[in-house]
Amino acid sequence: MNERDTEMILSQLQCAGYELTNNEKMADVVILNTCSVREQAEIKAIGKSGHLARRKHTNPNFKIGIVGCMAEHLGEKLFKLNGAIDFVVGPKRLHELANVIEDTGHSLRIGEPEKQQVAHDFNRKLEKKKCTAFLSIMHGCNMRCSYCIVPRTRGNEQYRPMEDIVEEAKFLTKNGIKEITLLGQIVNNYGGRLMPTVDGKTPFVQLLESLNALPGIKRIRYMSPHPRFFSDDLILVHKNLSKLCSSVHLPIQSGSNRILAAMRRSYTREKILEIIKKLRDAVPNVGISTDIIVGYPSETEKDFEETVSLFDAIKFNMAFVFKYSPREGTKSAELLDDVEETIKEHRNKILLQRVQETSMHYHQQFLGKTVEVLIEGRARRGANTMFGWTTNHCKVLFEASENDIGKIVPVRIDSFATTILSGTIVQNAQTETALS
Ligand code: 5AD
Ligand code: SF4
Repeated sequence: MNERDTEMILSQLQCAGYELTNNEKMADVVILNTCSVREQAEIKAIGKSGHLARRKHTNPNFKIGIVGCMAEHLGEKLFKLNGAIDFVVGPKRLHELANVIEDTGHSLRIGEPEKQQVAHDFNRKLEKKKCTAFLSIMHGCNMRCSYCIVPRTRGNEQYRPMEDIVEEAKFLTKNGIKEITLLGQIVNNYGGRLMPTVDGKTPFVQLLESLNALPGIKRIRYMSPHPRFFSDDLILVHKNLSKLCSSVHLPIQSGSNRILAAMRRSYTREKILEIIKKLRDAVPNVGISTDIIVGYPSETEKDFEETVSLFDAIKFNMAFVFKYSPREGTKSAELLDDVEETIKEHRNKILLQRVQETSMHYHQQFLGKTVEVLIEGRARRGANTMFGWTTNHCKVLFEASENDIGKIVPVRIDSFATTILSGTIVQNAQTETALS
């Protein structure tokens, strides 16, 4: 979401005549787009703004801006933490940035904008040589998970009209984009109660169908769905829509029903198992990843074991594991943060180890097989090494040229590691549909 917001900021400022420099030392303005989900992210951003403050001694025109969720969360306090900060702009006011940069003195823009501006996304400039893009379909979140600061910083759900999204997708494909990733805090609750379900199809599924029908689009992904809204019609389109990728990032947060209830997640581990079974029945070899929080207040060894047992039952091929971090203003911040740091660390390690094993196992099956890969860009290692992703979201390295970016090619897998596959492009190959 922040990556997409950053792109939006960039195109807005380029339209206003600013230029992007790749060398931070050359910049007259540095804008930190921040995250508040965990305290550590905020500490880092404040530290970075402190380092930047020194630049004011050598460049009197130098400006520092803090934008995004931390701007919304800490507001005015940021000027007290670091007087060198010039402007603070929340996620709902980003479209005001070009004006704010010109302000003198401390400028604060948080809270609701004077004019609602949901359609601000569709003013984008695209980097050349890019074949994938994020497409934001909604803003905010109506859920109130006990630990989460996002509804406070990003506000309630607002859905972009379906026609605007489809228009933007067409624009993207005309500019060389082959794969779009739809973004929303709860992307599968798109439309909420405001848009009708038609023929048993939820608004999100209707949107997926419209996008699937656009000739230029080759692949569609989405991030992140909420298990509560993972309806059967969504599972069905995973089977029926040819361009919808065979991978799902489904944040489950915990495997303990007691902790899930305390988190106000409104589902159980049984519901998760049911969704995953249905998905695996519908889509052979679907790639499944998740987010987990360890050390939520009062999480016992037994609760944690339930998470481990759910991990063992599901065998995720990727997982982000987070140590619980109390966030001011959330419901759970009122509770004692009583799981010791060393225990959080230990639980974090155990889950990461588990996911390394399951991801190795998942990758192993591709050895010697040929899979379809969308060539995305140059890999960090090797002069001619390019990278791309399979539909089930495995990253693959192989030799190719930059001119091949945007092509979908068959790659035979020669070796694998926990996070990566390596292979060779094969001409006229028959890809294994069940695997690719
Ligand atoms: N502490 C730790 N992790 C959190 N997340 C959200 N809020 C917190 C918090 N207070 C994690 C969740 C979410 C991901 C984006 O960040 O797992 O899915
Ligand atoms: Fe936060 Fe829960 Fe909304 Fe996700 S669904 S953004 S975790 S409140």
